[in-house]
Amino acid sequence: MEDIPAVQINHLVKEFPSPFRKTKIRAVDDVSLTIMPGEVYGLIGPNGSGKSTTMKALLGLLRPTAGSCYVFGKNSLKTDSRQEIGFLPENPYFYKHLSGEETLRFYAKLCGMRGKALNNHVDKMLEMVSLQDARKRRVGGYSKGMLQRIGLAQALIHEPRLIILDEPTAGVDPVGSREIRDLIVQLKDKGVTVFLCSHLLEQVQEVCDHVGIIFNGKIVKAGPLEDLIAIEDQTEILIKDAGPRTLARIKAVIADSENADFISMGKPRTTLERLFLDEAKKSNATTMTADQKGGDRA
Ligand SMILES: Nc1ncnc2c1ncn2[C@@H]1O[C@H](COP(=O)(O)OP(=O)(O)OP(=O)(O)O)[C@@H](O)[C@H]1O
Ligand SMILES: [Mg+2]
Repeated sequence: MEDIPAVQINHLVKEFPSPFRKTKIRAVDDVSLTIMPGEVYGLIGPNGSGKSTTMKALLGLLRPTAGSCYVFGKNSLKTDSRQEIGFLPENPYFYKHLSGEETLRFYAKLCGMRGKALNNHVDKMLEMVSLQDARKRRVGGYSKGMLQRIGLAQALIHEPRLIILDEPTAGVDPVGSREIRDLIVQLKDKGVTVFLCSHLLEQVQEVCDHVGIIFNGKIVKAGPLEDLIAIEDQTEILIKDAGPRTLARIKAVIADSENADFISMGKPRTTLERLFLDEAKKSNATTMTADQKGGDRA
């Protein structure tokens, strides 16, 4: 059973008609990726690179122009593939007049829960996303961070085996986004498969064990995080309060040495950030981003 991938995307292509031109916008261009059960996979890419479109195709919300998507072996175009999935969209929408508790009760009822089991489950979910104190307040008055958290609780209400998170920490302050990341780690510990997308590289680096980098609808790099960010033959030295003279002397020492070569000096960056920026540079040298091409939403 565990050999069946949680997510299998095969040569996915998604084109949208362009409103002003005859040509089509190719939002996703031959994307293939596999996520095994229990993995936390982060899809990273700039605005308009095709992250949300890939997720929507996987959810069966968009029909692929070509290629196919499977969730635990079931084709995404079949309704039953969605039973195992929880989804937090880019901008979750809720009924403003319901309280947080009523919102979750509503979704729990939709999933067939009733009576005491429903009450207990809603309590558990509110506690998990730390919204117990705000349970009676109208969702219309929730802050962005609270909305993301009620959205997460809603996505998890039926205890799915796969959770798809489109920018889970977008617009959330550092404390709130830390809580969301902790929650993702808890889900991973429970064996839930997580597929998230983001451009917050440091956060992706912290929670994901597999990463794919997408530019202009194409995956340009993918694999286990450790393999992607390891640079075997390089050494990083972190120095506090080094003045220009010290830095010049360090450079001179390196220049004097027989084997070592100086590569770069600067403020520390996360390794994933460096990888991402290198890929962006390569990608921009050959093509413009989808947004620059005028790929506006219809
Ligand atoms: N329904 C649509 N109709 C037309 N074009 C669309 C539609 N949805 C997406 N696109 C275009 O497809 C491309 C990819 O969009 P997508 O939303 O997948 O990007 P994204 O990586 O999620 O970006 P962001 O980081 O801004 O959320 C963009 O050029 C976008 O304008
Ligand atoms: Mg998006």
